Amino acid sequence: MSAPTRQTTAPENPIPQLDLAAQYASIGEEIRDAIQRVLASQQFILGQEGAALEAEVAKLCGVAHGIGVASGTDALILALRACDVRPGDEVILPTFTFVATGSAVSAIGAKPVFADIRPDTYNVDPSELARRVTVKTKAIVAVHLYGLCADMDPILDFARTRELRVIEDNAQSIGAKYKGRQSGSMSDVACLSFYPTKNLGAYGDAGMIVTNSSEMAARLRSLRNHGQTAKYVSSEAGWNSRLDEIQAAILRVKLRHLPGWQLARQGHAAEYSKLLLGIPGIAPPLVPENYEHVFHQYTIRVERRDALQQALAERKIGSAVYYPVPLHLQPLYAFSGHKEGDFPHAERAAKEAISLPMYPELRPEQIARIATTVAEFVTAEHEHTSAGSDRA
Ligand SMILES: Cc1ncc(COP(=O)(O)O)c(C=O)c1O
Repeated sequence: MSAPTRQTTAPENPIPQLDLAAQYASIGEEIRDAIQRVLASQQFILGQEGAALEAEVAKLCGVAHGIGVASGTDALILALRACDVRPGDEVILPTFTFVATGSAVSAIGAKPVFADIRPDTYNVDPSELARRVTVKTKAIVAVHLYGLCADMDPILDFARTRELRVIEDNAQSIGAKYKGRQSGSMSDVACLSFYPTKNLGAYGDAGMIVTNSSEMAARLRSLRNHGQTAKYVSSEAGWNSRLDEIQAAILRVKLRHLPGWQLARQGHAAEYSKLLLGIPGIAPPLVPENYEHVFHQYTIRVERRDALQQALAERKIGSAVYYPVPLHLQPLYAFSGHKEGDFPHAERAAKEAISLPMYPELRPEQIARIATTVAEFVTAEHEHTSAGSDRA
């Protein structure tokens, strides 16, 4: 009787695209203490935790003021209000971003005007601004996508000559640097999201606006709290967009860990790029000279991206596509009349970009397994295509 065949390779463990449970396992006790502290105080709204978080985040961003709000989307809407963007005004923003960057503009009745991106950084191409500006343009929203700052100097120069306001959408890039300056410190006002998946994520929705302007900070504090300038006295229409004490206390715990987590992300990115750089058919993320990337996402481009995603899933490796539909092709903006071909770099990125697993707790052997799977898939595709072209 022959011996039963034994499985020679161990079954592969799943690798998620993001593993918040691993993070909670390492900081759970600190988090529970922080929540207990708030429960003991019975102070839930606009208390000490929120004020301390605002000061700590402002310091990290290298600016004078932080204003905690209910989400990154609210941060954008309120920042636009504080920049005096009004219904009918136009705001230029990249078409390759999360929909909130555009819908915040729409929410106040202004018109989002889309701009194409640079194919190598995924961020807005500053040379697009001159093409998109009109007499109605009031502001530019520069998005720092995936953890990398947009090329701010030409954006700020352009805005200065036209007297436009600049807002940084820094939802994805807390801690990033551009030519020695912190993300969030370069414009009139900058917006942060603490959505749970972000590098600094709450246990629910939360966001913050940071600015150096005392007047703008005072206006934003009023706008997030029903436009009140004194208790029960409202000077303009605002609404309730406050960041609560439990979220603030959680975020303060996580903020202490952020520098270490950032270093871990950067180390993982370096490891990925070491394994993927130079393989034909794969474009790893570019980090231009004098930029510090914080790798909210490690995003590569490949042709046949959807097939790669499928191949990864078959090996139990998670991945994500940010973002498959650029804003100008969203049903929401069908009325703008844009069509396929209007913003070629953004459209191509939407078809080719794929974000591999990225979180501080990722282990070197997991990165090696992911990179090998990607490399094998792309190399096989490449050989297949070259063989096909030889036959032609
Ligand atoms: C680029 C960008 N802008 C805005 C937002 C909106 O933030 P929130 O989800 O906190 O409202 C997000 C995140 O979700 C984002 O990634």
